[in-house]
Parts: sequence; structure tokens; C-alpha cells
Amino acid sequence: MIAYELDQKYIFPRLIASSFDPTFVEECQKEIVEYGRNQVYHGKNENDKILPSNAFDGGWCLGVNYVPASCESCGDGREEMPHLARVQEQIIRTCHEAYGIYLNIGISVYCQWMNWTEPHGYAIGHVHGSTSQLTGAFFIDIPEDSGNLYFEDVDMEIMPTCGFQAEDVVDNEKMNVNTFYEHKPRNGECVIFHPMIRHRVGTNNSKLPRVSLAFDLRIGM
Ligand SMILES: [Fe+2]
Repeated sequence: MIAYELDQKYIFPRLIASSFDPTFVEECQKEIVEYGRNQVYHGKNENDKILPSNAFDGGWCLGVNYVPASCESCGDGREEMPHLARVQEQIIRTCHEAYGIYLNIGISVYCQWMNWTEPHGYAIGHVHGSTSQLTGAFFIDIPEDSGNLYFEDVDMEIMPTCGFQAEDVVDNEKMNVNTFYEHKPRNGECVIFHPMIRHRVGTNNSKLPRVSLAFDLRIGM
């Protein structure tokens, strides 16, 4: 047998797809932020259906799918979010185009929620699990220095899809991460990725709330 040396490296080969709507800020941003502010602070049944997000220091998780309320753990929808159809159209189009999904195969945004993160808030590392085929975020109002999105290569470690972890239990930035990819969001941008990629959002070091939508998608179902 001929002697040889074999070498293999894990290079974190995952597709992170994104699309950007340059007219979003002018046409949609203000109304959606106002909607979020009203829902978080002044909605009916305050503190009833709005759950803290997995940003356990200053985040709210607000279901925005209006009818039907399809994800109990995210809280049901209240008033329908303005421009929801437009946002979802961009999400679905991005899936079709970036992932090569045939146009006749349906894609549904079966769960979508707003993450409203006050200064000092952040989202711990998590995966979205096996109930969706693709997952992602749509960025509504991301002030400068309010937290980038980090995709982490963590081998086969499985993290909870949701929940709380005390800060002294985990070191959020050094949790068995081999390598990571840092994404700086833009308002009007949609980012879509595999639901088992662990990701987190950095600390909001601005003085303003950070507003984004997160979602889970089903394909062909
Ligand atoms: Fe997430």
C-alpha cells in the first residue's frame, strides 16, 4: 500500500441567504416600530400574551401571525402587524431564489414573532429545531451598535430551542464555539438559514430598542 497522509477540516459550510429591500425603511419601518411599541407597552392584556424572548435581559417576543395563531409558545397574534404580507413575500421569495426551491412548492411562514430588545438586551445562543425547514430574521430597526447576528459552529451540540439560562451558567460568547460568522444586519434585510445552525444576537449597546422579526418556515407542507 502506498503511504499517504489524509487531512480533513471542518469548514462550517452552511448557506446563509439574505435579501435587502432598499425601500423598506421609507415605506414600512416607522409603522412597524409603532405597532411593536404599542403591542409591547400598551396592548390589551398587557403581560398576558407577550412572552420574554430568549433574550432574557430586556427582550420581548411577540407573535405577529394574526390568523390563525399558529405557535402557542410565541404568544398568539393581536392586531395584525402592518406590512406583514410584504415582509412575508420577501421572505418567501428569498427562499425560492437562494435555496433553489421550485416555485410551485409552497413555503409558509408558520410562525413569526417580533423581538423587541431594549438596551443591554441580547439573545442567547439557540437553534430553532426540527419543526421548521428554514428559519430566519427580518430586520426592522437595528440601531448602530445594537447587536450583530452571530452564526456559530458548535459541532453536534444541541441547544434548547427556547428558554432561559442564567448568565452565570454559560459564557455566551465562549460556549464551545469552534468558529463563527458575524453578520451586521441592515434595516429591510431578510436573512434565512438552516434551523439547526446555532445563532445568537450580541448585546444591544445602543440607547434605543432593537426591533427584528424572527420566523420559522415550512416547505411543501
Ligand atoms: Fe433565532
